[in-house]
Amino acid sequence: MQVSVIVLAAGQGTRMNSDLPKVLHQVAAAPLLHHALSTAHHLEPSRIVVVTGHGGESVAASAATYSEAVETVVQDPQLGTGHAVAQAAPVLAEAEGEAIVLYADTPLIREDTLRAMLDARAKHAVVILGFHAKDPGRYGRLLTDGDALLAIREFKDATEAERAITLCNSGVVCAEAKLLFSLIAEVKNDNAAGEYYLTDIVELARKRGLSAGVVLCPEAETLGVNTRAQLAEAEAAFQARARAEALDNGVTLTAPETVFFALDTHIGRDAIIGPNVLFGPGVTIESGAEIKGFCHLEGCHISRGATVGPFARLRPGAELAEDVHVGNFVEIKNAILDEGVKVGHLTYIGDASIGEHTNIGAGTVTCNYDGVMKHRTTIGKRAFIGSDTMLVAPVTVGDGALTASGSVITEDVPAEAVAIGRSRQVTKPGLATKMFDKLKAIKAAKAKGH
Ligand code: UD1
Ligand code: CA
Repeated sequence: MQVSVIVLAAGQGTRMNSDLPKVLHQVAAAPLLHHALSTAHHLEPSRIVVVTGHGGESVAASAATYSEAVETVVQDPQLGTGHAVAQAAPVLAEAEGEAIVLYADTPLIREDTLRAMLDARAKHAVVILGFHAKDPGRYGRLLTDGDALLAIREFKDATEAERAITLCNSGVVCAEAKLLFSLIAEVKNDNAAGEYYLTDIVELARKRGLSAGVVLCPEAETLGVNTRAQLAEAEAAFQARARAEALDNGVTLTAPETVFFALDTHIGRDAIIGPNVLFGPGVTIESGAEIKGFCHLEGCHISRGATVGPFARLRPGAELAEDVHVGNFVEIKNAILDEGVKVGHLTYIGDASIGEHTNIGAGTVTCNYDGVMKHRTTIGKRAFIGSDTMLVAPVTVGDGALTASGSVITEDVPAEAVAIGRSRQVTKPGLATKMFDKLKAIKAAKAKGH
C-alpha cells in the first residue's frame, strides 16, 4: 500500500518561550520533528513532506539531516492546520494511495496506531485518531453517533454541551491522498479563530455522503508539546516506554529508571546496562555487551562481549570490536579498537586505531591536537603501551612493540621494538634524610624567630 505522510511543523510555539523553533526542541536527544519522522519512516512511506513556517530554514535543515528523502514545503503565513496541509497539495498532486497527517509537536504516536488507522480506512473514507482525555482542556471534541464520526468541534467554537465531551482529536488524520486534498480545498475560515481548520474535512466528507470514523489510542501517545513542562513530560514518557521495550527485548537494566535512551539507541539481547547510563544519539550495542554504571555514550558501536565502564565516556566514532575492555575514567573518540583490546584506566584515546589484543596502560594519552589540526595515532596488534605514555600524533607503534612507562613518544616505533622516551633515573643514596634534616632545621629557626 502506498502511503504519503505530511508532517505539520509550521507553528510558532510561543509558549516554549524560546528562540528555537518548537519542533527542534529535543526529547531523547533528538528534535521533536525527528520523532514524527521516525514514526512516519516505519510505515515505509513513498513520500514524507514536512510543512515548515516559523524558523523554516532550520526546520528544513533538521529534516534533511534525518533523511535526504524528506521533502519540505513552506507555509507563510500560517493560517491554520487545514491551510498547512494545503501547502503539501502541489508536491503530492500525483500521489496515489493513502495520506497521513502528523504533527511535529506530538512525538509519542506509535507505528501500530498508524497501522490501525490505515486498516480502519477499509470502513471509513476519513479516519481520525481520537483519545479519551482526562482533562479535555482546549482539544477539539469528537462528535460521534455510534461508530460514525459526525464532526470535530474546536474548543473555541464548541457549545457548553460539546465542551463536556471528553473524546478528543489527537490531530492525526488518515484518508486517501486525493480525497484529502480535494476536501482541504473546500475548507473555509469562518470560525472563531479565523483559521482554516483541517478538522473541517470530517463534515465536508459527510456532505459528500462519505463516512468518517475514529481509531482510539491511549492518551499518553497524543501528548502534544506546547510548553517546557510538556517537553519534560514527553521526555519522561519516552524514557518509560524505551526502558520497558529494552526489558521486553531481553536487555538487563539493573536500575531502569536511571538509564536514559536516545530515539535511535539499539541494544541487543542479553546486553547488561548498569545504573545511571546515558545514551546520546547514534549508539548501537550488540548482544551480550556490558555497560557498567555511570557511562556516557554517543555515536559509538560496541560489539559482542565488550565491557565498558564504570565511568567511561564514548564519543562519536568510537568503534569497539568483540571482547574489548574499556575501564573506568576512559574517554574514547573517533577510534577503532580491534578485538580484545584493553584500555583499563584513566586514558584518552582520540583519532586512533588500535590493533587486536593490544594493552593500553593507565594514564595513556593520544596527543591528537596540536592546537590547529587533529592527527592520528596508529597502534598495531599485541602491542603494549606502558602506563603514562604520551603518544604525540601523528605517530605509529608497530605490532608487538612496547613503550616504556612515562614515555613521550614522538617518533614511530617499529614492530617488536621497545621505545623509551624519558630521562634516565638518577639515585642518590642518603640524600633524602639530609634534605629533610635541613628543612626541619629551617622550620625550627623560623619558629624561634617569631
Ligand atoms: C489542533 C486541532 C485540535 C486537536 C489538537 C491536538 C485543528 C483545527 N485543531 O488544535 O482539534 O485537538 O490539534 O493537539 O486542527 N500548524 C501548522 N500551521 C498552522 C497551524 C498549525 O503547521 O498554520 C501545526 C503546528 O506546528 C502543530 C500542529 O499544526 O504541529 C497543530 O497546531 P496547533 O495550533 O497546536 O493546533 P491546536 O490548536 O492545538
Ligand atoms: Ca497544539
